[in-house]
Amino acid sequence: MNRLILLSMATLLYCCQTQEKKSERLTGIMADSAVVVSAHPLASQVGLSIIKKGGNAIDAAIATQFALSVVFPAAGNIGGGGFMVIRLKDGSAATLDFREKAPAAASTNMYLDKDGNVIPDLSTLGHLASGVPGSVDGMVEAHKKYGTLPWKDLVQPAVDLAKKGFTLTDREANWFNQAQEKLLKYNTQVPKWLIKDKWVKGDSIKWTDMGATLERIKDNGRAGFYEGKTAEDLVAEMKRGKGIIALEDLKNYHSTWRDPIVASYKDNKIISMPPSSSGGICLLQLLKSVEPYPMKEWGFHSVKSIHLMVEAERRVFADRAKFLGDPDFFKVPTQQMLDDEYLTERMATYNPDKATPSAEVSAGNILGYESEETTHFSIVDSNGNAVAVTTTLNGWFGSFVVVDGSGFFMNNEMDDFSVKPGVPNMYGAVGAEANKIEPNKRMLSAMTPTIVEKDGKLLMVVGSPGGTKIITGVFQTIVNVLEHGMTMQEAVNAKRIHSQWMPDAILPEKGALTEPDSISLSKMGHKFTYIRGTGFGRVNAILVLPNGKLEGAADYNRGDDTAVGY
Ligand code: DON
Repeated sequence: MNRLILLSMATLLYCCQTQEKKSERLTGIMADSAVVVSAHPLASQVGLSIIKKGGNAIDAAIATQFALSVVFPAAGNIGGGGFMVIRLKDGSAATLDFREKAPAAASTNMYLDKDGNVIPDLSTLGHLASGVPGSVDGMVEAHKKYGTLPWKDLVQPAVDLAKKGFTLTDREANWFNQAQEKLLKYNTQVPKWLIKDKWVKGDSIKWTDMGATLERIKDNGRAGFYEGKTAEDLVAEMKRGKGIIALEDLKNYHSTWRDPIVASYKDNKIISMPPSSSGGICLLQLLKSVEPYPMKEWGFHSVKSIHLMVEAERRVFADRAKFLGDPDFFKVPTQQMLDDEYLTERMATYNPDKATPSAEVSAGNILGYESEETTHFSIVDSNGNAVAVTTTLNGWFGSFVVVDGSGFFMNNEMDDFSVKPGVPNMYGAVGAEANKIEPNKRMLSAMTPTIVEKDGKLLMVVGSPGGTKIITGVFQTIVNVLEHGMTMQEAVNAKRIHSQWMPDAILPEKGALTEPDSISLSKMGHKFTYIRGTGFGRVNAILVLPNGKLEGAADYNRGDDTAVGY
């Protein structure tokens, strides 16, 4: 009945072998009951062990989140924030916004000098770059509402990993090597256990202080992070480094349950994250904009398909820059943005033969309207409950600040605000009024944890890191399965192409485009350039096959991401 857990290395070998044989399809791991796909093999195993113990997908997500904060500290976190999309086996859905908030002492121009120019690095590196973390409160809230196993059981595996230590993968060793200079520069008390001449694969790391912090969270829940020693350490760290997060900010932080963004694409129902992430609205705008066109007939990465997708992306990202921000501060015109007529109107200027210069594209007219690192995991449990979580510190290792005494990385999420109208953030995204800095406001995100349903049944759980490339990566992955008939693994592995209105350019992943196709696109007026932000994301996804089996697909070519299941 139940099949053995298949680990990624085995999958990888198997996949590489089958990839050679044209007649066989490349698939991810196949499971009968449950699957966890996350950025790290140890975190995936923690999640699956919780399900085997009788926990549900939400329990597994909480345990995976805490485990990632230890074994994948560049993005997994307790000092950051994120979003969770849940679909229960009865079809009901919910989303949890545990995005960081600006501290109360934040102000609109806090990253500008006296002449109004952006001060380099201030919103991305060091203490002032951090928003008030939301991850721990998010996990507490998710557990309160949906958890079935005791809280302590969900945090304990992370405590064990932190205290006993674990060995680094090759990629992780490289990341630590690349971080050395910034770790030394941006910490008031150097985290000695992270400093080494050269980290190599197989080196072991113990997170003693974070282990104790996780223990406080295990014993005291929310208070273990937002009060007591952890909170005091965090605020003392901020004071030493001229940061502005205060005890009151921590006490006042609360995550928020929000109604999911739900809309149809053909005969599929897409359930995704509403603002303060732009992800759900942008993904649905993209899908609805391309829906009338025969992409299936045009084929994967054909010039016609790429042109159409880029033209849709140009228009959607222009809307994003104007209309999207924290809904607690800014009236986001969600319904209008997803209205069929509005989207048809937006695509009315689409010319199948010619690129529309971005300078000629601005946000749409909405009536009555006034004017690099993250990680995603997808889980389906043995009862068919599904959870998609994307969580982040923003950049790789966030602000590079480790809270002395409590031993965890702080985010640099403040850079996701529009620090000055029209000035791009670290992912090249621009914004203005809707996403300006205000005290206690959430900065706009691109995270797109998403669940797809067909005929009232769970079909897909999907999401990715990658800054603005999250939206386009999730979009392409869904299109790859629904239009191009790919398996989940093929859809995840497929090369990606990104475009985001400004800069007016296409960024293809290496190998995504043939030379003749690039020439054809150039002739249509498309430009190619580098767009800031790391990589093309790492999509971790699960597909429910017609026979009920689960295909877990980890983005193992782009990261250490691993799917496990049984
Ligand atoms: O919320 C956002 O959109 C960004 N902070 C996400 C950053 C990210 O995905 C970095 N990963 N590669």
